[in-house]
Amino acid sequence: RTAASLAAIAAADTLDALEALRIDALGKQGWISELLKTLGKMTPDERQEQAPAIQAARADVAEALAARKRALEDAELEMRLSAETLDLTLPAPETPRGSVHPVSQVMDELAEIFADLGFAVKTGPEIEDEWHNFTALNMPESHPARAMHDTFYFPDHDNQGRRMLLRTHTSPVQIRTMVAEGAPVRIIAPGRVYRSDSDATHTPMFHQIEGLVIDRGIHLGHLKWTLETFLKAFFERDDIVLRLRPSYFPFTEPSVEVDVGFALDNGRRVLGGSGDAPGHAWMELLGSGMVNARVLEMSGLDPDEWQGFAFGVGVDRLAMLKYGMDDLRAFFDGDIRWLQHYGFSA
Ligand code: PHE
Repeated sequence: RTAASLAAIAAADTLDALEALRIDALGKQGWISELLKTLGKMTPDERQEQAPAIQAARADVAEALAARKRALEDAELEMRLSAETLDLTLPAPETPRGSVHPVSQVMDELAEIFADLGFAVKTGPEIEDEWHNFTALNMPESHPARAMHDTFYFPDHDNQGRRMLLRTHTSPVQIRTMVAEGAPVRIIAPGRVYRSDSDATHTPMFHQIEGLVIDRGIHLGHLKWTLETFLKAFFERDDIVLRLRPSYFPFTEPSVEVDVGFALDNGRRVLGGSGDAPGHAWMELLGSGMVNARVLEMSGLDPDEWQGFAFGVGVDRLAMLKYGMDDLRAFFDGDIRWLQHYGFSA
């Protein structure tokens, strides 16, 4: 019986067949198990005579089962390995890779350019209170400029009774910086701003970069030089020409709107040259001015000692000009094809 069993085990060609043989021999009612049970009813002499053979049969069968099991498993692994060959010389499949969004890219570039000019980067909250967003910027309650901002208000007020809102510009970071750190100041403040407005050139959320310099003896010449230097570095051209136009912002006095000369190249605006030159025109680029003395006072600075300039510029606008993009809304659609078209995604 043992010999027949060992032969069957050696010939088993699947793990299932082998398991059936194991149950047949060593299972609860297997023939070896039945033999072992008979030992209990034997006299000591009989047992001494028969037990060794039965135990040996059990050991042989168990060992044969284990050996065959290993062999079958090895063979199965061998087959799987040879079926699943991997050609390491094949090119890897294309996997999509992320990339820096043009807005982030421009913000990074601006932070670098201004770092070279000694400006630190500051941030402020996007959920602001009306004091920082308006009042301290010389736009008291009922100031008409407040209405021009199409503000998103929250229904609740803060614990000082101030209305909460989504900041309409990065200018509140001017206030926060002066209040927290005093003077002198040399910062830029990039970030998201919100206005209830939407068409091809306006989105309800967009990006600005604020600049603020406060020191002794600061004048408009410093502002003009700073803007020229930054725009030349950003657009990588030395022929950037600016035109400063008198304007009005409640928080700057005097206020200047800054235009930049450009030419059209296949419908695309290319900055450079005077807007008055043939084939050229002016385009409004940013708002700026000398910080209003009232704003300095409300931020705790003495306007007789400290002067400064500030500017605010649309980051998305700068990105569109630099990369020739024409629809602002596409910036925030998250369409990878659009990013790829402008070289922003692998
Ligand atoms: N905060 C102004 C705006 O959003 C821009 C600005 C900033 C103007 C700083 C002057 C000085 O339109």
